[in-house]
Amino acid sequence: MLKDKNVILGVTGGIAAYKSVEIASRLRKAGASVHVIMTHSAQNFVTPLTFREITGNPVTTTMWGEVTNYNVEHIALANLADLVIVAPATANFIAKCAMGMADDMLTTTLLATKAPIFFAPAMNTNMYDNPLTQKNINTLIENGWNFIPPESGHLACGADGLGRMPEPVDIVDFVRFTMAFAADMLGIKVLVTAAGTYEPIDPVRYIGNRSSGKMGYAIAEAAKKRGAEVILVSGPSALTAPEGVNFIGVETAAEMRDAVMNHCSEADLIIKAAAVADYHVRNVSDHKIKKNDEELTLVLEKNPDILKELGAKKRIGQILVGFAAETQNLLEYAKAKLEKKNLDMIVANDVSRKDAGFNTDTNLVKLLYRNGTVEELPLMSKQKLADELLNRVLKLKY
Ligand code: CTP
Repeated sequence: MLKDKNVILGVTGGIAAYKSVEIASRLRKAGASVHVIMTHSAQNFVTPLTFREITGNPVTTTMWGEVTNYNVEHIALANLADLVIVAPATANFIAKCAMGMADDMLTTTLLATKAPIFFAPAMNTNMYDNPLTQKNINTLIENGWNFIPPESGHLACGADGLGRMPEPVDIVDFVRFTMAFAADMLGIKVLVTAAGTYEPIDPVRYIGNRSSGKMGYAIAEAAKKRGAEVILVSGPSALTAPEGVNFIGVETAAEMRDAVMNHCSEADLIIKAAAVADYHVRNVSDHKIKKNDEELTLVLEKNPDILKELGAKKRIGQILVGFAAETQNLLEYAKAKLEKKNLDMIVANDVSRKDAGFNTDTNLVKLLYRNGTVEELPLMSKQKLADELLNRVLKLKY
């Protein structure tokens, strides 16, 4: 799985930096193209020349140097990366990342990349155990970064305890294993709907809702990263479609229905995160409506319930997941939708909260299953929630 991959190896200033030379060597032997970025302090332990010789690629040590033959502008490596490994990761470097800082090439690359990130912390036991360091590590884990646990043993500072960087062979194996797990949706076809729909009133006006599409786009991206073949049917959204998904942009509920019906039979998993308008305007005006009258009456007609239609024609083995956005009686309404629409799981969120639901970066949900089980998840980013939902859906299937 490392063959032909662009791996960024970040090296920070710890004594374990000498082991990174072997990590670079192992990655290269596995067929990866290795691009090393060293922090300023890392260069006190190992020279850039060593990494250049081992990897056959230029080594980046600053944001301000000459542009090299492979066009290092400050986010070029972030875009190039299929995978980023930081080994060793010092306590100081972890703290900077947890703050979202971007004051050198490595922090900048980490903040800008969409590739999976692995950190191998290495430090004194007390520094590692310090609640501040643990909090920083948890912040980054919450952000989706992976941590390779340090080992116990004799440390360079003379102490014995947790904090030693694992051997290079184990680091490369950890990355391999995790990436293989990350491809646990290979061969699965997923149809995701996202964002709200716009129901036109006249050529310039519409009825819409506050859905940003963040949850649906996060699910589409997570499924794609895990190897699934993804179709994303989206209402209007300011977001960019995740790379590699088959994107179908729609505007109205009727258009969303057509797009979904055209693709539903091939999907193994359908996740309907879209906030579909329940009604459309009966007589859409061909021309812009002028404000001639004191009152304007719009007659609304019911839209097709796409999810209900999908539930009615669900084939054996197909998994159907819906969302229920409620402001009251969350569990009761969500349960009714699960049953009425013949779903396998429903994601219920209380949209009256500020940190959950429409146009937020985090979400707080309860999951309801067919067997009556209710699972409450803690507040988390929509990216993390996307992966948590997929983990559970995969268990439903197999
Ligand atoms: N949904 C859909 N088609 C619609 C309305 C909703 O496919 N016309 C889907 C949504 O994508 C979501 C789920 O149904 O997954 C729940 O949407 P919601 O609007 O909360 O459900 P309704 O059944 O419309 O319930 P109500 O309006 O009574 O809250």
